[in-house]
Amino acid sequence: MTDKTFIIKKIQQLKEEKNAVILAHCYQNIEIDEVADFVGDSLYLSQQASYTSKDIIVFAGVYFMAETAKILSPNKKVLLPRKEAGCLMADMIDINQLREFKAKYPGVPVVCYVNSSAEVKSECDICCTSSNAVSVVKSLGAERVLFVPDTYLGNHVSKQLPDVEVITYNGFCPTHLRILPDDVDKMRSLHEKAIVLSHPECHQEVVKRSDFTGSTSQIINYVKKSNEKEFIIATELGVKERLERDYPDKEFYLVSPKAVCPNMKWHQLEDILNALINEEHEVVVEKNIAKKALAPIERMLGLRD
Ligand code: 13P
Ligand code: SF4
Repeated sequence: MTDKTFIIKKIQQLKEEKNAVILAHCYQNIEIDEVADFVGDSLYLSQQASYTSKDIIVFAGVYFMAETAKILSPNKKVLLPRKEAGCLMADMIDINQLREFKAKYPGVPVVCYVNSSAEVKSECDICCTSSNAVSVVKSLGAERVLFVPDTYLGNHVSKQLPDVEVITYNGFCPTHLRILPDDVDKMRSLHEKAIVLSHPECHQEVVKRSDFTGSTSQIINYVKKSNEKEFIIATELGVKERLERDYPDKEFYLVSPKAVCPNMKWHQLEDILNALINEEHEVVVEKNIAKKALAPIERMLGLRD
């Protein structure tokens, strides 16, 4: 038995013994899918976290995702295998910066991308993910909306909803911003028949050059339904790898070798095993904050995009 097979077997055993579920984001190292119970985008994973009856949730994703799972399932133990797995965008706004931003626009509702801390969520009106941002903003029926922290996703929403003024905070995803419009042009000239699929965290110029823009799961679904054979993937490497695995008769090209999120790549199979053995690193959210942060998350889930 190879080391890898042994580790996978141990993880499966421990999952049973400890009544644990493993949730994995589709930017994770692909081998983690071999032990994951659910793989998907942030919305799907937060839904799974809210439904699960297991005692332990091992979150192969970044910190804000595990924190969201803990808020939704306060009585469960939520584990983040590597505690270094943060999100640079989520770190771009803290509670004081949020308060300053809100103070400039009194009374304007605040939509908070889930890529944010529990504390930030706790003072926002509703959360969204990249797959439901447009419908969440629309659901407020407001003329003006504040959108934190991602200015790019906020601007993307604004383009879809011309009747709503979307005032964005100045956060961004460094990984998606490494994808340049020029990269898309170059790839298109190399693969003329390919369809360009991008994530809304990308530059507007990348989005404009795309045939479709959506969350990671929406991109995967697009490929599933499409009869086309070639695709240029303008999001993180993990999506391209999963598409290659699942659609061997189609061709996928990563738009840029720089489209890799280092934070998402922290967790290895060994870390998942250690997380289960030692029940580490447990995600803790202060009770009052968790209670307040639950409302905007539940409000989003209530829309059941
Ligand atoms: P999804 O909403 O597509 O899962 O994206 C989360 C994310 O962090 C993208 O960078
Ligand atoms: Fe955060 Fe960007 Fe990584 Fe997503 S890809 S987890 S937004 S740093």
